[in-house]
Amino acid sequence: MRKHIVAGNWKMNLAYDEAEELLDALTQKLDEQPLDENTMMIICPSFPYLELAEDYCHVDPDDEENEDTYFMVGAQDVSANDNGAYTGEVSAEMLESMAMDFCIVGHSERRAYFGESDEMIAKKVNKLLEHYISPIVCCGEVLAEREAGKQFDVVRKQITDGLFHLNADEFANIVIAYEPVWAIGTGKTATPEQAQEMHAFIRSLIAEKYGKEVADNCSILYGGSCKPGNAKELFANPDVDGGLIGGASLKADDFMAIATAF
Ligand code: PGA
Repeated sequence: MRKHIVAGNWKMNLAYDEAEELLDALTQKLDEQPLDENTMMIICPSFPYLELAEDYCHVDPDDEENEDTYFMVGAQDVSANDNGAYTGEVSAEMLESMAMDFCIVGHSERRAYFGESDEMIAKKVNKLLEHYISPIVCCGEVLAEREAGKQFDVVRKQITDGLFHLNADEFANIVIAYEPVWAIGTGKTATPEQAQEMHAFIRSLIAEKYGKEVADNCSILYGGSCKPGNAKELFANPDVDGGLIGGASLKADDFMAIATAF
């Protein structure tokens, strides 16, 4: 069975003490109400807070035998290059050395504001896999593309060009997040039907390329104004395996409500 995943994308938010407060509140709630076995929580803070999140992720940090974690930690981006003269960049090798488990790649904000192409996203995916980090690869259409009925073509191209150079073993480490750009941070959510339709389409692309078993094992998350009030109906769809959560991941109550909405 593929896992249910709720990943919190903090984006470029929170001062250090606010990040600490949020992690405090979250771990307290996870103590009171542990997630069910099949649900994985991932926290993706900004680079300077990755170590802080790592400090909070273990249920019992003093007990080396106990590997139980409250959540996994992920970065929000990675360089397409190896270590070297790239001021301001963070490499997959660095993330591996910090025991990072996941990394978001190809978020629509990176595509729109930093000009990331599918080709660059493919390179970043390769770097992460070389360093044993699972990429959470984002795809999704803008409003004009949906209005023109092109959403399936757009997503097919993003998935094909960003991921389909991988072999099946490599692809088994990929998490996909479908995030219609018109729903991100806008308060507009895709309807459960729109989300299910696109998730089923993405799974069918994976099945065509790698076979049904690989497709059935791939977690496909929905992102875009997912909140406590709509998470349940989104997650109730057979091909929606959880969410990549922006705004609502900054409030412990809201994020917990979403993480327990399966
Ligand atoms: P949002 O962001 O939940 O604030 O819409 C989701 C995302 O961009 O990952």
